[in-house]
Amino acid sequence: MTHKQEPIAGTKGDVASHDQTKSWFYTDIVKEHFFHPKNFMENDADETHYNAIGKVGSPACGDELRVWMKVNPETEKIEEFKWKTFGCGSAIASTSMASVIVTENDGMTLNEARKLKPQDIMERLGGLPQRKFHCSVLCDKALRDAINDFYRRVEKFDKIVVESSRIIDPVSKVTDHDIEEAVLEGAHTLELVQQKTKVGIGNPNCLPAVEELIRFYKEKYFGAA
Ligand code: FES
Repeated sequence: MTHKQEPIAGTKGDVASHDQTKSWFYTDIVKEHFFHPKNFMENDADETHYNAIGKVGSPACGDELRVWMKVNPETEKIEEFKWKTFGCGSAIASTSMASVIVTENDGMTLNEARKLKPQDIMERLGGLPQRKFHCSVLCDKALRDAINDFYRRVEKFDKIVVESSRIIDPVSKVTDHDIEEAVLEGAHTLELVQQKTKVGIGNPNCLPAVEELIRFYKEKYFGAA
């Protein structure tokens, strides 16, 4: 894993975090994409020009991201990828980098793009502060939403992948999506996930499933079990 770590408390970073005990360090690549975003949709989108549109909101912070893609219907390669967000600098840098990755070398196929992980984007950025990982997940989700939109428009319904949440703990009503968000927010142990979500407090039977999900999301987003 090549993520650059969050600087240790007391060391000099780019930005002080909200609790003032740590600073956040942004790599030069992140700053380049933040100050000079690539493929940003500067004006109102001419939606007739695009054949795949995706939108996602972040439960972690309330921000929103939209993407517009032009997909070659024959090859299913992404010819253009434009985006706009109300999100923070990390979301801007991540989406800018994602727009480069999916269109470089003649464009990814939708099948290849669907396999792109937030982790791949972060590695190309040289890392993000841990508390900002969820921002890179925004563009990944918007990309997959746009891929589904393309297949809906061309009526290839079997290629649409629906990601719905399922209840893991019927007592606290915690879903797998709640656990995903907790892991993205930095809760990487059962204890920390329980503090955030209260999962399993009145229903310990679900804890093995919770631990498995924590392992799954850690591997998915951070590349470590
Ligand atoms: S804090 Fe909302 S996208 Fe980064």
